[in-house]
Amino acid sequence: MILGIETSCDETAAALVTAGGDIRASVVSSQADLHARYGGVVPEVASRRHLELVAPVVRDALSEAGATLDDVDTVAVTQGPGLIGALLVGLAAAKAIAWSRRLPLVPVDHLRGHVASLYLGPDALEPPFLCLLASGGHTMLLDVRGYGEEAVLGTTLDDAAGEAFDKGARLLGLGYPGGRELDLLARDGDPTAYAFPVARVPGLDFSFSGLKTALLYATRDLSEDELAARRADLAASYQRAIVRALVARVREAAGGKRTAVVGGVAANSELRASLPDAALAPLALCTDNAAMIASAARFTEAVPYPAYLGLDAYASR
Ligand SMILES: Nc1ncnc2c1ncn2[C@@H]1O[C@H](COP(=O)(O)OP(=O)(O)OP(=O)(O)O)[C@@H](O)[C@H]1O
Ligand SMILES: [Mg+2]
Repeated sequence: MILGIETSCDETAAALVTAGGDIRASVVSSQADLHARYGGVVPEVASRRHLELVAPVVRDALSEAGATLDDVDTVAVTQGPGLIGALLVGLAAAKAIAWSRRLPLVPVDHLRGHVASLYLGPDALEPPFLCLLASGGHTMLLDVRGYGEEAVLGTTLDDAAGEAFDKGARLLGLGYPGGRELDLLARDGDPTAYAFPVARVPGLDFSFSGLKTALLYATRDLSEDELAARRADLAASYQRAIVRALVARVREAAGGKRTAVVGGVAANSELRASLPDAALAPLALCTDNAAMIASAARFTEAVPYPAYLGLDAYASR
């Protein structure tokens, strides 16, 4: 079994996955409540919390799988991209576990991890396919040619789609992280109430910063009562604009190829409904988790004991 560990942002996660891609356990401890009062993730607070949680979360995953460290053959861990202090906690924990058992260690790229969320379970997808990765920090169109083999066809020029959801939610006075709350509120609203712009940028890139400004202009002159009355319509219209931009690019780039969507924004109900033919990451595996990291490790070369002790984390690709 592969023990996966993920600590790149504000989720402390551990999972046990078999070489065949069966999830035996997947534990995610979210720190969202801890960061909510600041309206976003505070890196230093996240690192300290990971330090407290990483051992209990690994223990929970082992007990959920009915396993012990004796059953673990490989340790996989997110090496980057992400918050550097947060990543270092997971990497140090993974090194310590692997080293103490003389096991190999697989450093995993977090974005490859998101793609590998499609390679788990009985309905696992096989490359090649076109993949939209839409998360809190990234929005990319990937030409996935093989396992762990992808070319970037397009990326965001400014905000990520998840970031646009979160910033929009904040302008609407919703909690943090706001993507899911905005999704829920949008169900009660009229998506045609406001004509928010979908940025036209050349090639297959994305841009969401103008949309956020449009929402700011639409909300800033509203009184509290007016905002309360229009909140659902604003949410629905704003979500419609983000989803339209994402779906348009997927359609343009697909050219008859199979398509897939991964990352936190893949949990969005309107996006899922708008791409009925696409392979969608299972809901539990859209936002950060360690099962996807262990999954990616199945297709990544392991670093033998004890050479991985010198590995470092990286903040960006
Ligand atoms: N139902 C939803 N609708 C829209 N957005 C959502 C939904 N659920 C989660 N999100 C968004 O997904 C993002 C979190 O996704 P994820 O955990 O993949 O991002 P991340 O790990 O922070 O970023 P990255 O993977 O780029 O490093 C947040 O921006 C969140 O608002
Ligand atoms: Mg992520």
